[in-house]
Amino acid sequence: MKIKNLKLNGVTALAPMAGVTDKAYREICKKFGVSYVISEMISAKGLIYNNENTFKLMEISESERPTGIQFFGNEPDIMARACEIAERFKPDVIDVNMGCPVPKVVNNGCGSALMKNPELCYKIISSMVNSTSTPITVKIRKGWDENQENAIEIAMACEEAGASAITIHGRTKSQMYSLTADWQIIKDVKNTVSIPVIGNGDILSAYDAIDMLNTTNCDMVMVGRGSLGNPWIFKEINEKIYLGKKPKPPSVIEKVDVMLEHINTLCKYKGELHGMKEARKYVAWYIKGLKCAAKFRNEAGKLNSFNELLDLSRRLMKENKM
Ligand SMILES: Cc1cc2nc3c(=O)[nH]c(=O)nc-3n(C[C@H](O)[C@H](O)[C@H](O)COP(=O)(O)O)c2cc1C
Repeated sequence: MKIKNLKLNGVTALAPMAGVTDKAYREICKKFGVSYVISEMISAKGLIYNNENTFKLMEISESERPTGIQFFGNEPDIMARACEIAERFKPDVIDVNMGCPVPKVVNNGCGSALMKNPELCYKIISSMVNSTSTPITVKIRKGWDENQENAIEIAMACEEAGASAITIHGRTKSQMYSLTADWQIIKDVKNTVSIPVIGNGDILSAYDAIDMLNTTNCDMVMVGRGSLGNPWIFKEINEKIYLGKKPKPPSVIEKVDVMLEHINTLCKYKGELHGMKEARKYVAWYIKGLKCAAKFRNEAGKLNSFNELLDLSRRLMKENKM
């Protein structure tokens, strides 16, 4: 599929996840064959006010490309200015967050709050499109709540404003992450717009991915929580689709090796002290389902150094008879 002039090989995308999909995470998923990755959401205002932490979030490594940067914000001028500044980081795509349900984002009129105002959505996209030649895309939900399910209207407004693709998560803002995602709305949006549609919500296996592609006819599937501690999901989806191979879970050794590689890269980018604090949640995700996972998860919550992680890994493997 193509996002404007950008050709994407394959059908899988990594969902933007704040506090999760940093450069190290995106690189690991790329190693396992994801076709397209997106940054955590980044404040457009933070960027234009030269916030140093915001600049760090913008960094992209060559090995992870093609990469989208996701902005949140609600002022067309600021969003456009952020696109101009973003050019120095050479994102392949700039995505707009119109789906975040978190109060501190929504209460500032950003994220899914934008879906209450289709005219503003149109203005934001059109001013961004006019400010840069980088493709502009948008990620939406099904609507604000069950009384305002307007994904189709928003998708049409964004397409008309010049968006090059749309991702839709089949839940309303009010649902947050509860209940199951409604894939029918993905199909409806796909049937309405001419630009590519990326389907999102509840893909936890290669079978789910194929199911979503078949039932909604979307152009690409986006995986979020299904990739936590499980970058293999992208390899499994590709192997199932292109080779007809049945997914085979990774061995304990493989899990530990990939976890160590991931955390090592994280520490390289963020420094060991900061990196290991962030590593705690990733370790807990990687070891889920292994023998004595609860005990090791407890320990993971106190990790301070990479050496401590090496020690934990050795004991984890022993416990799992490796
Ligand atoms: C921890 C976490 C952080 C998230 N952060 C973002 C974000 O920054 N931007 C965004 O558009 N969606 C964000 N989302 C939503 C996901 O991109 C995705 O739409 C949602 O998790 C549904 O997909 P899934 O069922 O594959 O997880 C986040 C989700 C989670 C679980």
